[in-house]
Amino acid sequence: MSDDATYTVGNQEYPLLEGTIGPKVVDIRALYKDTGMFTYDPGFKSTASCESGLTYIDGHEGVLLHRGYSIEDLSERSSFMETSYLLLNGELPTKFELDDFIYTITRHTMVHEQLKTLYNGFRRDAHPMAIMCGVVGGLSAFYHDSTDITDPEQRKIASHRLIAKMPTIAAMAYKYSIGQPFLYPDNDLSYTGNFLRMTFGVPAEEYDVNPVVERALDRIFILHADHEQNASTSTVRLAGSSGANPFACIAAGIACLWGPAHGGANEAALNMLHEIGHPDRIPEYIARAKDKDDPFRLMGFGHRVYKNYDPRASVMRKTVREVLTSLNVSNPVFDVALQLEEMALNDDYFIEKKLFPNVDFYSGIILSAIGFPTTMFTALFALARTVGWVAQWNEMISDPGQTIGRPRQLYTGPAARDYVPLENRG
Ligand code: CMC
Repeated sequence: MSDDATYTVGNQEYPLLEGTIGPKVVDIRALYKDTGMFTYDPGFKSTASCESGLTYIDGHEGVLLHRGYSIEDLSERSSFMETSYLLLNGELPTKFELDDFIYTITRHTMVHEQLKTLYNGFRRDAHPMAIMCGVVGGLSAFYHDSTDITDPEQRKIASHRLIAKMPTIAAMAYKYSIGQPFLYPDNDLSYTGNFLRMTFGVPAEEYDVNPVVERALDRIFILHADHEQNASTSTVRLAGSSGANPFACIAAGIACLWGPAHGGANEAALNMLHEIGHPDRIPEYIARAKDKDDPFRLMGFGHRVYKNYDPRASVMRKTVREVLTSLNVSNPVFDVALQLEEMALNDDYFIEKKLFPNVDFYSGIILSAIGFPTTMFTALFALARTVGWVAQWNEMISDPGQTIGRPRQLYTGPAARDYVPLENRG
């Protein structure tokens, strides 16, 4: 992991660590002890918060690898279940291992019957992400036999439960919002097919899973499965670093993902495309995005790490066509998206700042063609990202050097001063 090279800060030398691929990392763990100084890096733009073997991103080249396999290969040739196994276990499964994993996940998809009562506490118009935060956090009160995080077997069961129950919980959030009965999972269906049925089926009749839609949604799940140390994953790790309950940690990740700068961007991107409405209005929106006095940003554009085309966006764009063709829907918003992308990619502002479409730019078009309301988009992201969260959480907890995450600060408040009694304050 380390080589002999060092980096000098003041007159102290610090070791350089080297990963398998990617930039070297200056190991400044001893900096404060040696110099009495902290480093300052709000937003972690230059700071590696952990070691991880799960996911690698080269933002300049537009590369995304899970355990060494490219996202293009996985989204084309793998399934969400197989990719989940890969993220959790480090290697692609054999046929037996995959069947066994799918069997296990399928048998954990039901939720405790009493959990249903939690839903009744929410208003019908509650955002599904509000319900997901509450209900997933609530799992900690139900599954006490999988919360001893020092026991690898219990960690594994908690991980399987989370991956398995997320589709059920998300589908129930949707059903609650439209006043339809909850559907129990169907073990004869795939992970994604079962989710589609629990979301769009009704108890009164059979539900036929459309294989093109099932494949497209499964691919969307693969594309969202993990993305190294993004904000929600870092939140899960930070929450978990205190030894907190795994279900509560994932609820923390869901809360973070909800924001429009992160997982909430897919909802915001589609709303923006609808608001633009017609290609003629694109220049007006591009001008607004460039105006420093206007807080408007092109949603689904730009990324903290990708300074090139987000490889997930390319797969997404291809999938939009497949889904629209299969469902035989023409969606004017897709034309707006294509033209907006072309105009932005040829505009100096976006070229200079290396702003490209990200995964969220096209995903909303597919999800709404399938029938999901915009408010469910981020819930689907949370469903898929749960595998990344639990894999990263497991990696952290199994690391013998793991310690509580506790950043430092640059204090800018008043220096120590004397308390002034109330009667003496002007
Ligand atoms: N539209 C217009 N200008 C933008 C945009 C945008 N979408 N994104 C960044 N910029 C500008 C920004 O104003 C800044 O300009 P300047 O240097 O003149 O101040 C420059 O580009 C760099 O932006 P930044 O905000 O410093 O970059 P960041 O790495 O902190 O933010 C981001 C990344 C994703 C929050 C940001 O690009 C953004 O707000 N995009 C829109 C929201 C979005 O699509 N989010 C989904 C991210 S992908 C899914 C996920 O990971 O959750």
